[in-house]
Amino acid sequence: MSTKPVIAIDGPAASGKGTLARRVAQAMGYALLDTGALYRAVGLSMIRAGQDVRDVEAAMAAAQALDADRIAELTADPALRQDETAQAASIVSAYPGVRQALLEFQRGFAANPPGGAAGAVLDGRDIGTVICPNAPVKLFITASVEVRAERRFRELGGDTAGVDFAAVLADMRARDERDTTRAFAPLVPAEDAVVLDNSELGPDAAFQAAMDVIRAKL
Ligand code: DC
Repeated sequence: MSTKPVIAIDGPAASGKGTLARRVAQAMGYALLDTGALYRAVGLSMIRAGQDVRDVEAAMAAAQALDADRIAELTADPALRQDETAQAASIVSAYPGVRQALLEFQRGFAANPPGGAAGAVLDGRDIGTVICPNAPVKLFITASVEVRAERRFRELGGDTAGVDFAAVLADMRARDERDTTRAFAPLVPAEDAVVLDNSELGPDAAFQAAMDVIRAKL
């Protein structure tokens, strides 16, 4: 077991937890792992191989085949951020075999943060509940589904890029539904997590609130 501190940051899609996690990692000088990128990497490798993401066995094999080099390659691919990849990630992340295959990589990162960093920030859905249940700091970042869909709509280029807001909102609801209702490691705040609402606080106040929690706990 590592004695290096872990900051767990969980929350739904487009809640702003990724941005918050980056700022916290930078402020603390900790290594950062975006765990959603791992599930996206599984989805993307299946899409690239022409596989059906509903094929549970193939998804498990794809997750097991990911090593650090392949993860680095796939997470640098611009297609990682596309909506098709997000939907694929949301589907494969419901499979226990896929989650199990990615568990050791995540725990290894937390125990031995790369570059000799003094600690690790992991952002995802189940960091505080499953991956690092003993993390000394657990934050759960929320925002209303409308605020999150608006954010994703802007990220995708908005009206000028011909993006349909209603479709983005529907996709966000579908993803929330899958992420929160799956039987295995559903998206729920850990009992000892501090919940911060980004739509009420705004990103700067959420960052300050997060740093206050971190200072109080570490
Ligand atoms: O945060 P994101 O949009 O990159 O996540 C992509 C998908 O991966 C999301 O639908 C849920 C899943 N995921 C998960 O199940 N567990 C995590 N720790 C991180 C992401």
